[in-house]
Amino acid sequence: MADLSTKFTGIRFENPFLLSSAPPTESDSNIMRAFDAGWGGVVTKTIGLHPVVNVKGPKTKFLRADNNGYRISMNKRPESTLLASWNWELISDKPLDWWIGKLSRIKKAYPAKILVASIMAGSGNDKELHNWQTLTKACQDEGVDALELNFSCPHMDRVDMGSNVGKDKVLCSVVTQAVKQVAKVPVWVKLTPATADIVEEAQASFRGGADAISSSNTFPSLPVIDPNTLEFEMNVEGYVSSGGLGGPAILPLSLAKMSQMTKALPDKEFSGIGGVSTFDHALCYFLLGCGTVQVCTAAMLDQAIGPKAVRLSGRIRIF
Ligand SMILES: Cc1cc2nc3c(=O)[nH]c(=O)nc-3n(C[C@H](O)[C@H](O)[C@H](O)COP(=O)(O)O)c2cc1C
Repeated sequence: MADLSTKFTGIRFENPFLLSSAPPTESDSNIMRAFDAGWGGVVTKTIGLHPVVNVKGPKTKFLRADNNGYRISMNKRPESTLLASWNWELISDKPLDWWIGKLSRIKKAYPAKILVASIMAGSGNDKELHNWQTLTKACQDEGVDALELNFSCPHMDRVDMGSNVGKDKVLCSVVTQAVKQVAKVPVWVKLTPATADIVEEAQASFRGGADAISSSNTFPSLPVIDPNTLEFEMNVEGYVSSGGLGGPAILPLSLAKMSQMTKALPDKEFSGIGGVSTFDHALCYFLLGCGTVQVCTAAMLDQAIGPKAVRLSGRIRIF
């Protein structure tokens, strides 16, 4: 077996492929199955201090295109190909207390695998900044290898959270700085693609002390409208709100964001996310200068943890 190991933010990875923060990493059992399948690392589903109440209705839908036609729809049907995932899921519905004990057990069982804790708190006042520090200390005391700060969820129910932080370069800096004051492990910042110039938020995060940028989270988007019912294909009692688009459709969009950052900041480290289902897709991110690549939608469709997707690492040898 070829040596696929790599160093990223000072951490040694068996291979540069990670599951990104999402349903495939929402529990200890999923994470351990992912390690057994061969992933070099995982980023946990985003952990907050308090339980969140998720939206009604399905959390994730899959948008498909007809193989012989132009119709795109979330309705399941034969002869169609996956275009994208669409979700309005919030962060982990299990609060920090649930994860304590489990993170350390995962790390003890899989010492060579890389466990990254994704965390999120608010940003409106000093108490919220302190919450970031509480999450940081608790997760690193559990032995996680790195932290990923979620400045990127496009549909949080609070204005001082998620992509609202990632859209404000001052907040990007201030929150990263607060975390770095107490962090003993590398700190990655996951940015939203929904800004005019992502380089500005990346620079601000690095000024705050970030060790790497992960990008992209999902893109803000609406479900299509069914021409027969005139309803959005995904709605709850007739209402809809913006959700996040992931999967194949966002690969070129995410690559554009990534190339802006790697061109402007060639000496910095980046983890590429968005639309990766095969080695060829991952290769695009590596060639743009990313040190690791993360996968969500492809893994969700593949027994929740992506044993097929992980086989993509085998093609590195051919390349
Ligand atoms: C259902 C679902 C839930 C997600 N939850 C989180 C989350 O809690 N934290 C986070 O940082 N990203 C979250 N994401 C975003 C993914 O980690 C990833 O950035 C995005 O889906 C793009 O990657 P993909 O094209 O491989 O799906 C979620 C994505 C989906 C589809």
